Amino acid sequence: MPITFDPTSRLFKLDTDCSTYAFMVYEENYLVHLYYGPKIPDTSLSHLMYRGWNDSFGPHNPQVQDPRFSLAFMPQEYSCANSGDYRASAFEVRGPAGDTVTDLRYVSHRIIPGKPALAGLPATFAQEDEAETLEVEAQDSVTGLKVFLLYTVFARHGAMARSLRAENAGTAPVDLERVYSLCLDLPTMDYDLLHLYGRWNKENTTVRQALQHGSQGFQSRQGMTSHNNNPFAALLRQDASEEQGEALGVSLVYSGNFSFEIEVDTFGCSRLLAGISPASFRWHLEPGESFQSPEAVMVFSQQGLGGMSRAFHRLYREHLIRGQWANKKRPLLINSWEAAYFDFDGPKLVEFAKEAKELGIEMLVMDDGWFGNRCDDFRALGDWQVNEEKLKGSLQDLIQQVNDQGLLFGIWYEPEMVSPDSNLYRAHPDWAITAPGRTGSLGRNQLVLDMTRPEVRDNIFQQMAEVISQNNIAYIKWDCNRNISEAGNAILPPQRQGEFFHRYVLGVYDLMDRITTAFPHILLENCSGGGGRFDPGMLYYSPQIWTSDNTDPIERLTIQFGASLCYPVSSMGAHVSANPRTGLATKAAVAMMGTFGYELDPRKLTPEEKEAVKAQVADYHKYYDLIHNGDLYRITDPTLDPFFCDWEFVSPDQTEVLFTRVMMRRPINFFQVQRLRGLDPDKLYTDQETGETWSGAFLMSAGVDLSLCSWAPVEDGHCVVKHFVAQ
Ligand code: GLA
Repeated sequence: MPITFDPTSRLFKLDTDCSTYAFMVYEENYLVHLYYGPKIPDTSLSHLMYRGWNDSFGPHNPQVQDPRFSLAFMPQEYSCANSGDYRASAFEVRGPAGDTVTDLRYVSHRIIPGKPALAGLPATFAQEDEAETLEVEAQDSVTGLKVFLLYTVFARHGAMARSLRAENAGTAPVDLERVYSLCLDLPTMDYDLLHLYGRWNKENTTVRQALQHGSQGFQSRQGMTSHNNNPFAALLRQDASEEQGEALGVSLVYSGNFSFEIEVDTFGCSRLLAGISPASFRWHLEPGESFQSPEAVMVFSQQGLGGMSRAFHRLYREHLIRGQWANKKRPLLINSWEAAYFDFDGPKLVEFAKEAKELGIEMLVMDDGWFGNRCDDFRALGDWQVNEEKLKGSLQDLIQQVNDQGLLFGIWYEPEMVSPDSNLYRAHPDWAITAPGRTGSLGRNQLVLDMTRPEVRDNIFQQMAEVISQNNIAYIKWDCNRNISEAGNAILPPQRQGEFFHRYVLGVYDLMDRITTAFPHILLENCSGGGGRFDPGMLYYSPQIWTSDNTDPIERLTIQFGASLCYPVSSMGAHVSANPRTGLATKAAVAMMGTFGYELDPRKLTPEEKEAVKAQVADYHKYYDLIHNGDLYRITDPTLDPFFCDWEFVSPDQTEVLFTRVMMRRPINFFQVQRLRGLDPDKLYTDQETGETWSGAFLMSAGVDLSLCSWAPVEDGHCVVKHFVAQ
């Protein structure tokens, strides 16, 4: 039983294979957090609640007998505002009297097998025998507001999913001012905070810094996840490294404004909060109404960052990514964007398909430019009718010709957007987001449709459904090329305008749900100017996401390494493009650390390049299982090493290993061995190229000699790939 409750000590213990999480119901039904860390058998933990000494400045509830009790410094299970805890709080409610005193006390709990779904929101899922869920009911006695704290334990993965539902069980309306999905009070500040910042074309840059007294954190205010910060953080013990030490990862299953806030208090204790950003949030709850928070996923590992990442990868592959394509082999695609931009017609795409077929490619994706009068990015978003003049025929004919070549067909959409120069906008100017009386700013010459409105979603769904149902479409790339500004709308009453951003996200989820439910055969790939909305919420609807518009293979290394901290490589859209930075071999080696595909004009390849591409396609099939279902080991960090970026995939049974080295700069006069990781020391591994055999122990301790590889006159100049198979 991963979840236990001792009725005498009123202690909750939530155990995974490698971690323990504990909290208790204390005097006056306060929920007090006690422990999160390596797995422990002990059940006498209540003394862990004392993390400071109460002086006269720490408010004390006179009904509590324990004189040392004060919310000012005690660890809270779910901290509330304005009740004597002065640290950043997870939950704040403005009651009918106008004050924000929020005071949740334990009422009851239940432990259930499996995991309930979260209404309207993406979330991890589990069968009854795969996970166990604890639901703790707490209530504020004055407002009557009830909160149900949910904890699902994925024991095998060292993971827990947390969220909450607030229900107004009182008689008057209340306003939720902040609703974090997760609050975690840790007894020390001996942590580094690691997170991913970035910008368009440079997503997922890793930054690691020691926690400081005071507040630190990162967030999105863009209405979408954004390129600027990813909803993921790791707290690492300061001695933790890639493969050693304690790493605690938190990932938010959400695609809108979010916030990760860490406050180190005066006693050197740390509070981590993760959830919807309170900055632009206020949710009005009439009596009887409820609010479901997004889910935050926590992973604990004692095998450093690498162990944490592999746990996230397995969890998200098995318990987040859904649908027919979750485990089905994905078709190897070629995308028209970098090959042609807006400059294509039907015959040109058919030529692409013919060439691609020769190379072994399995699907052609027609990117932006096929609808309305979309000849550039100044117009036509929202007019999702096929431009037959441009295609020189119907879409059905085009798809038929592509299918005749033996290729599947995919198509691009940007469903949430509208161009001012579009029929949709001319008919419904009020469907674009702008607060009443304001003029909406443009981003990439476009406005954002108000996805909070059902009639807007219905219109876009119908337009999309018409094209999809009449054509043999196997894949959709769902793009989103700007953020929200001038947020607000004329439909919500003033006291509900604070709900706008979250309602937008719920609207997007609803539309994605309708499309994926109506057309379950479609492989959906999300995109937002590259990785502007690369988050677990999107992964729930689409098993893959375009990682970045930057297809320079050297730049891609840091972007993909960063993304891999939380997301499985099977979800990371990665293509070989015409980018001139390196030769084809390196581009392919880097794209293999992802979904793999092409984004270039296949007619422009030389005969030698075509042979190279055919070999890469063969490799794609050969290594598909190893890459998509294997364990990733990041060996050399491209943000730290001046010369090399090394990584490795190991099959779950440790019989196969694929090692890749990309040389970012060529060192002169050096000798280099690299130790492999994650092998079985007792197995004998044969280098498939040289036939040499080494023990796993040798390869992990003495390493592979790579100095010759770098001296060889590699025409491509940049990469080494080694494949080992155990006998
Ligand atoms: C975004 C995407 C690109 C491409 C263009 C089309 O920038 O990231 O891959 O689809 O839009 O306009």
